Amino acid sequence: MSKRALRIGMIGYQFMGKAHSHAFRDLDFFFDLPVTPVLQAIAGRNEEAVRQAAAQYGFASFETDWRRLIERDDIDVIDIVTPNVAHAEMAIAAVQAGKHVICEKPLAMTVDEAVRMREAAAANGVRALVCHNYRYAPAVQYAKRLIEEGRLGRIYHIRAEYLQDWIMDPNFPLVWRLRKEVTGSGALGDIGAHILDLARFLVGEVRDLAATMETFIKERPLGEMSGGLEAKADHSRTGEVDVDDAVAFLAHFENGALGVFEATRFAAGNRNGNRFEINGERGSLRWDLENMNNLQVYLEDDERGMQGFRTINCTEPVHPFADRYWPAGHIIGYEHTFMNLFATFFRSLEDGSPCKPDFEDGVRNQCVLDAVERAAASKQWETVIYR
Ligand SMILES: NC(=O)c1ccc[n+]([C@@H]2O[C@H](COP(=O)([O-])OP(=O)(O)OC[C@H]3O[C@@H](n4cnc5c(N)ncnc54)[C@H](O)[C@@H]3O)[C@@H](O)[C@H]2O)c1
Repeated sequence: MSKRALRIGMIGYQFMGKAHSHAFRDLDFFFDLPVTPVLQAIAGRNEEAVRQAAAQYGFASFETDWRRLIERDDIDVIDIVTPNVAHAEMAIAAVQAGKHVICEKPLAMTVDEAVRMREAAAANGVRALVCHNYRYAPAVQYAKRLIEEGRLGRIYHIRAEYLQDWIMDPNFPLVWRLRKEVTGSGALGDIGAHILDLARFLVGEVRDLAATMETFIKERPLGEMSGGLEAKADHSRTGEVDVDDAVAFLAHFENGALGVFEATRFAAGNRNGNRFEINGERGSLRWDLENMNNLQVYLEDDERGMQGFRTINCTEPVHPFADRYWPAGHIIGYEHTFMNLFATFFRSLEDGSPCKPDFEDGVRNQCVLDAVERAAASKQWETVIYR
């Protein structure tokens, strides 16, 4: 029996456009889903560039106006992979047109925007996913299982860091990720949002926090992203950096755990160091994206003399999602986090099963980002105001 087509319309076509398109294309190959994702159309403002992206990624057609894409009646899911400033307007228009939505993170520029997005999705009876893909690394899913089974007991600590170094050169241009009006916040919303999502997934909700932020390079040449985390500079003109280059915060969780967080793009030598350690009364876990198949586990119950962190390569059939790919020890990578997330989402569209993180998670994440900005400005502990 042929499966129903799930027709995808994507807005944006660079870094995340490529990552998402790749995942959609490979889903049918690795997962036995009740639907077949179909790359129906892609939208971008530059006709030549979007035509080329459609051809490279395998979309059947393209549009040069995202509104036209959303109006089309041959699209089921709108995937938003544009800079943050555009997320709210596009997502709200898409859900009002009855489309399910995948939206990149951070969900929005502000808590108000995020709340409007969540409410619009609920009012229109569609499903809405925010793309915190790192939750879907098998080792992270396995960490969640161990915590839920009580293997760590009560959780005392999470220390999470997201360290990059791609804007350290003062001549790296003022791309959209460094302009508040397009991005909302700097390292905080771009990469801090990811470790916060991991912390919410694994530990729980943040109650209050104290924070500090720094902008090390305050003026840069103008320029545009040119793909991935690369950019082209126009050295004849400069502009002001008005977002954080780095942020650090301390947090209390509602369940009594303590969190220490750091997000920066000035940690020389750290290309994409997304890491956490969690300590509980009966053991600890460690994970590092750059070694993402492995989970380090320490258990207090181990025999004295034999105690220590063990490395579990989460590629056995017993590990979440691992049976979809290769035999044990045959590792997977960054792109598979998106595949695992989208497979879960597409299945949920058919059978109504839950799929997280959704726009509720996006709003909660945004409420913490907001508290971090308030705390950095006030130099006081701030309570997270959930809405
Ligand atoms: N989940 C992750 O791991 C991850 C990684 C990188 C980026 N992101 C998020 O994905 C989003 C996109 O980031 P990126 O790195 O792909 O950016 P990018 O600069 O590589 O690509 C942005 C795309 O959006 C298009 N665009 C911009 N404004 C538009 C508009 N008004 N209408 C139509 N198209 C428009 C651009 O032409 C480009 O194709 C951001 O929200 C970012 O925070 C998530």
